[in-house]
Amino acid sequence: MDKHLRIFDTTLRDGEQSPGASMTTAEKVRIAKLLEKMKVDIIEAGFAAASPGDYDAVSQVAAAIVDSTVCSLARAIETDIHKAGESIRKANSGRIHTFLATSAIHMESKLCMTPDEVVENATRAVKLARQYTDNVEFSPEDAGRSDPEFLCRVIEATISAGATTINIPDTVGYTLPEQFGGLFKYLIENIPNSDKAIFSAHTHNDLGLAVANALAAVKNGARQVECTINGLGERAGNASLEEVVMAVRTRNDQFECDTRIDTTQIVPISRLVSTITGFPVQPNKAIVGANAFAHEAGIHQDGMLKNPETYEIMRAEDVGWNANRMVLGKHSGRNAFAARLKELGVDFDTQEELNQTFKKFKELADKKHEIFDEDLHALVSDTAFLQADERLKLISMSSSSATGEIPSATVTVSLDGEEHTETSSGSGQVDAAFKAIEMVTQHNAELVLYSVNSITSGTDAQGEVTVRLEKEGRVVNGHGADVDIVIASAKAYVNAINNLVSPVKKHPQLSRAV
Ligand code: KIV
Ligand code: ZN
Repeated sequence: MDKHLRIFDTTLRDGEQSPGASMTTAEKVRIAKLLEKMKVDIIEAGFAAASPGDYDAVSQVAAAIVDSTVCSLARAIETDIHKAGESIRKANSGRIHTFLATSAIHMESKLCMTPDEVVENATRAVKLARQYTDNVEFSPEDAGRSDPEFLCRVIEATISAGATTINIPDTVGYTLPEQFGGLFKYLIENIPNSDKAIFSAHTHNDLGLAVANALAAVKNGARQVECTINGLGERAGNASLEEVVMAVRTRNDQFECDTRIDTTQIVPISRLVSTITGFPVQPNKAIVGANAFAHEAGIHQDGMLKNPETYEIMRAEDVGWNANRMVLGKHSGRNAFAARLKELGVDFDTQEELNQTFKKFKELADKKHEIFDEDLHALVSDTAFLQADERLKLISMSSSSATGEIPSATVTVSLDGEEHTETSSGSGQVDAAFKAIEMVTQHNAELVLYSVNSITSGTDAQGEVTVRLEKEGRVVNGHGADVDIVIASAKAYVNAINNLVSPVKKHPQLSRAV
């Protein structure tokens, strides 16, 4: 029996499908490098046909990664497969992941295809993908609600056509663990050529069962799990990588396989994904939440002091807590700064980029005594944002508030290269700053979320602000970080407005696959 449980990370694809979680190419490359360091087997870098930006992101990840397989998603359509195939050309090891829905409701209402047409299109797509790589994955979308007998037919045909991985998605997060595990057992036992492919589980968390379903699949023969950092993903998210990996490792008495993941990288990468997407991690989140290893009750503390195993089933340091406490400060030099960033997966293309980021680091170190890895990640995201070709830029701002006075803010921004200064009052300084920016941009979007999160502890910590705007059904997020939360808020607002005017991309599962 195969003892290797492959970890297929889809943070950069399904994770990015969470409304507002879009990432730039540079950010995707940074995350991919940490995933590679963590020894993830397969990185799904995106859906190359979604937009030129997505194509570019998959190609750049493919070129930057050596040890992990880099994968692009493609609908079972010729043009998508060509795009996916081209995008992974530079990969040391590349995979095409193609999919087509197999549930009655999807075939009838979305695809308008008969079951025969689905089998035909799926096999054609796999054969075409095999012309680019011998590493091809096929997913019968909405498998969790598909007829198991029809699944056997499609899967047998796609394996015969050359699929080397068969991924079983519970697309809508509907199945229960026993049922999903049973489906794997049934498929593996009843498909004559099932031994020619690796079976994989792709689970969504709509009923809070994504991890339980993935583990049930592993117990019944799956040897690949598709998951995301922090459980990011469509709607309620995907199975969380850290929970799947630590469940299999901690309960190795129950599983006949294990992953190759370097678990000490889990917390650093969780933080990076949270910083880049602006999606904070809830404090009680398993493994990576701030309270995951905090023992508050006196009776627990007493037990822990006598023997840590009384209440602790995993050690905090094994998942990377306290692993990145290396601190930089205002006396740190350029070499120490660049070396630490390299360890965090950040390489500078030019000396000028390093110089600019180092200058920002020195400015931050003047305001904040100790600079942690989390601060560096936020700083790099901020610098990349400033370097990008964005229409709206924050030049400067000032704001004031005093007891009994109406708060006000004066903001100078440049819009398409032209500087504008506006002053506004508001119910607070942040409100005033947003109103002043809106006076310039007149964007008419609705503010649907505003959240502030402290990146590290202490009153000199940087505040990380997320702003979500909605306009005509489109939802975008913006992020900003600064030790001054009014400035962080203005940066996040400007970033969100820029995202609002950026091109819209295709969503793989919303388009008809014909
Ligand atoms: O949830 C899903 O069905 C997917 C497929 C594209 C694999 O994400
Ligand atoms: Zn999915």
